[in-house]
Amino acid sequence: MNYFSYKQDDLYCEDLSVAYIAEQIGTPFYLYSYSTIRRHFQVFNNAFKGLDHLTCFSLKSNSNLAILRLLALEGGGADVVSGGELFRALRAGIAPDKIVYSGVGKTPSDMELALKSGILMFNVESDQELQALNGIAENSGSKAMIAIRINPDVELKTHPYIVTGFGESKFGIPIKDSLNTYALAKRLKNIEVKGISCHIGSQLTEIDPFVEALRKLRELYRKLKNMGLDIKFLNLGGGLGITYHDEEPPHPLEYARALRETIGANKFTLILEPGRVIIGNAGILVTRVLYTKSAANKRFIIVDAGMNDLIRPTLYDSFHAVQPVKMAHSDMFTASLVGPICETGDFLAKDRKMPPFKPGDLVAIMSAGAYGFSMASNYNSRPRPAEVLVKGKLFSIIRARETYDDLINGEMIPEFLEKSSV
Ligand code: LLP
Repeated sequence: MNYFSYKQDDLYCEDLSVAYIAEQIGTPFYLYSYSTIRRHFQVFNNAFKGLDHLTCFSLKSNSNLAILRLLALEGGGADVVSGGELFRALRAGIAPDKIVYSGVGKTPSDMELALKSGILMFNVESDQELQALNGIAENSGSKAMIAIRINPDVELKTHPYIVTGFGESKFGIPIKDSLNTYALAKRLKNIEVKGISCHIGSQLTEIDPFVEALRKLRELYRKLKNMGLDIKFLNLGGGLGITYHDEEPPHPLEYARALRETIGANKFTLILEPGRVIIGNAGILVTRVLYTKSAANKRFIIVDAGMNDLIRPTLYDSFHAVQPVKMAHSDMFTASLVGPICETGDFLAKDRKMPPFKPGDLVAIMSAGAYGFSMASNYNSRPRPAEVLVKGKLFSIIRARETYDDLINGEMIPEFLEKSSV
């Protein structure tokens, strides 16, 4: 069941026409399908049924409160990487004991907030961070539960910017050095060692690297047991890929089956941190054509969404399918879909076959639910787009379109620049 599909010639999200929503709220906007998010979460989470596990949605992929609430109601936990994400997860009602906190640069105040909130554990990424966390826990008379994030050094085929678990990456601690870090953790009074974690990369379309990483974690798990450490959690991170174009990623069931086989009879809770696989194909970006023009044998469709709204095409050269909101039934032609921003890199699709869009037409940029709004910026002083959630025939604005006042929120003109003193 695809909740973004055509009824006759009109693109629908669940039971609502996308054009209808655009008429009501204007463009551009992100549009999410409630039923898709829910189904994706359930399919993923149920794939691990029978295995002690916790599914912690990765907030960096999409951190809208309404979406987090939906996932909280499904029993989901959260993977956060900043105080801000922690704040969002808690505000959305995600149980603190289902929240894990990763990131190479946790600040003291963010660690304090996380400790006070009673999160499940910190995924610690360096010895210095471990010492700092121990100090903070000591000051507040508490114990910080931790996993050490290790770098399992597995090879991957994905965009180099989103590979994280190979030898030279800044993430985690090289697996060969991790025993020393665990030994240090064991000595620290306000640290309680609970787990091992890793995250090898994102948009992975093969199972083998996950299995290889899990094998390495399992090996380490045995060594740590021998050191007398009571490891209760193994966290494999996120990374399962989705179909943007013609990729054929494994189904969560296959993924889960492979992990189950690798885990064997070991007794621990498996933590997973999926982001993209839950929300990527549950959202689209809807934009309207402003103008068309040709130059040097190239055709450009200029739309009202730009790289500030969706940066993936220009940052990673990533593919997002372009679909008409109203099917035209005319010959396709090659064009680039570009935004209004003053940068050559401001494109959403480059030299692509697409319908002969004309001014006023609505265009859907597909598979934009993950790392879409969450990476949006105000570059060129463009208010960020609205976000809308559809459930059946209902639609709800889950984030208002920003206003010009929002753009200058917090900015101040110092007294010495007041008119009288100039
Ligand atoms: N856990 C950790 C520690 C992570 O660093 C990430 C993603 C995830 C979980 C979730 O991974 P996912 O299941 O979504 O693949 N902006 C890039 C993706 C960067 C991913 C960074 N880490 C993009 O738009 O493709």
